[in-house]
Amino acid sequence: MVLSGIWRRNENSKEPLPDNLSVSHDKAVPPNAVQELCASVGWSRREPDLIVRALENSLAVVSIWDKDELVGFARATGDKVFNATVWDMVVRPDYQRLGVGRLVMCELLKELDEYSIPLVTLYADPGTDGFYKRFGFLADPSGVRGMFRERNEY
Ligand SMILES: CC(C)(COP(=O)(O)OP(=O)(O)OC[C@H]1O[C@@H](n2cnc3c(N)ncnc32)[C@H](O)[C@@H]1OP(=O)(O)O)[C@@H](O)C(=O)NCCC(=O)NCCS
Repeated sequence: MVLSGIWRRNENSKEPLPDNLSVSHDKAVPPNAVQELCASVGWSRREPDLIVRALENSLAVVSIWDKDELVGFARATGDKVFNATVWDMVVRPDYQRLGVGRLVMCELLKELDEYSIPLVTLYADPGTDGFYKRFGFLADPSGVRGMFRERNEY
């Protein structure tokens, strides 16, 4: 890994990426790489064919690679007009707090901005809202509450 705590990227950064890192907006991320990245932060396993379908059906997918290792990922679903929602924002633990998550979010929001979508939402896991607030996300604006209805078929 050739990243240091000094490397910090912001939305307007002209700084080049470290040589070893590359950014992809390709939806065809190998499902085993996504599985492995998600497992590295303790997320439960998803079936590879379902991962492939979910990525194909997503509006935007961003992956960050250290050579051939997937180290950062997020995707967004949406209608290309009114709304988009960010899902599966994840950075490999040994790459966290180095700017990779910021790079993922900046790339994802940049792609959503191409559609001029006015509202982007997400569900922040406990302890991560401080990360999202850096990109302008607010918790419960005007008292709006997220609500959930879960089915447990997978
Ligand atoms: C949350 C997560 C994606 C952040 O990625 P990261 O690569 O560590 O984030 P970065 O290094 O790019 O940090 C960008 C900024 O957010 C801050 N930040 C990062 N994680 C934070 C957190 N959990 N709480 C508050 N601030 C945080 C950083 O300090 C940095 O601030 P700065 O710009 O002022 O220096 C990463 O910790 C992760 O994958 N966690 C496990 C999976 C997870 O919980 N995902 C979220 C699901 S909703």
